[in-house]
Amino acid sequence: MTQKQLDESTQYLQSKGFHKPEIGIVLGTGLGKLVDEIEDPLVAHYHNIPFFPLATVEFHSGKLVYGTLKGKKVVVMQGRFHLYEGYEFTDVTYPIRVMRQLGINKLFISNAAGAINLNFKKGDIMLVEDHINLQGGSPLAFKNVAEFGDRFVDMSDPYDPDMRKKIEQIATKMGISLQKGVYAAVVGPQLETKAEYRMLKIIGADAVGMSTVPEVIIANHLRLPVIAVSVLTDECDPDDLEPVNVSEILEVAARTEPKMITLFTELIQLL
Ligand code: HPA
Repeated sequence: MTQKQLDESTQYLQSKGFHKPEIGIVLGTGLGKLVDEIEDPLVAHYHNIPFFPLATVEFHSGKLVYGTLKGKKVVVMQGRFHLYEGYEFTDVTYPIRVMRQLGINKLFISNAAGAINLNFKKGDIMLVEDHINLQGGSPLAFKNVAEFGDRFVDMSDPYDPDMRKKIEQIATKMGISLQKGVYAAVVGPQLETKAEYRMLKIIGADAVGMSTVPEVIIANHLRLPVIAVSVLTDECDPDDLEPVNVSEILEVAARTEPKMITLFTELIQLL
């Protein structure tokens, strides 16, 4: 990754009309419908954006959508890049840097995750308060990182407290029950063993997924306020573990998605 590449990606999008978005949104697996709410959408497919990584997982349509949502200019990633697809940390976080260069000053992230905390149920939404990086690397571990921002990034409170408070207020107002907790990020793509779920619980995770943490690290490196919301798609009880069912995970994500859309759109209105 070079600054010149980032500039070319940014200039391409600006030439397509992606003019000064305020808010960037990353939509997780099975959570793409928010883009239907965008007025006057402009679409840029990842494969057309210079130096963008390419989307591979088939249920990701792989595009950036720009437009107006609740009166604000937004840019939405429908489909993200995962380490488990073979991408590097710098690939996974490249679009965050480009959205920052386009002008975003807030970032919202969503993901599908498994519930480690057994008080949480599939179909619940969890506001991420903190995380544990179990991905075995960092998007900041490269030679010339200092050219792009801080290397030794503070992570004492990586999820913006002000937006978190607003999300809680919105959930109360809209009657959405909202869990809060710690998200552990693993590489995947295999799901966890019973022993791994047991370990995740012991080390303090409430949910587990295969994304989000690299993007949050880069948001902090760029001093970009960020929040993340997990849609809990399965219950990870090591003493009563059912074999994974990806179509059920997608089905639960789709069923729960409207709550996430409400939280995000109402938050946009409050900012
Ligand atoms: N583990 C990891 N990632 C996931 C899970 C899980 O149980 N559910 C949804 N994404």
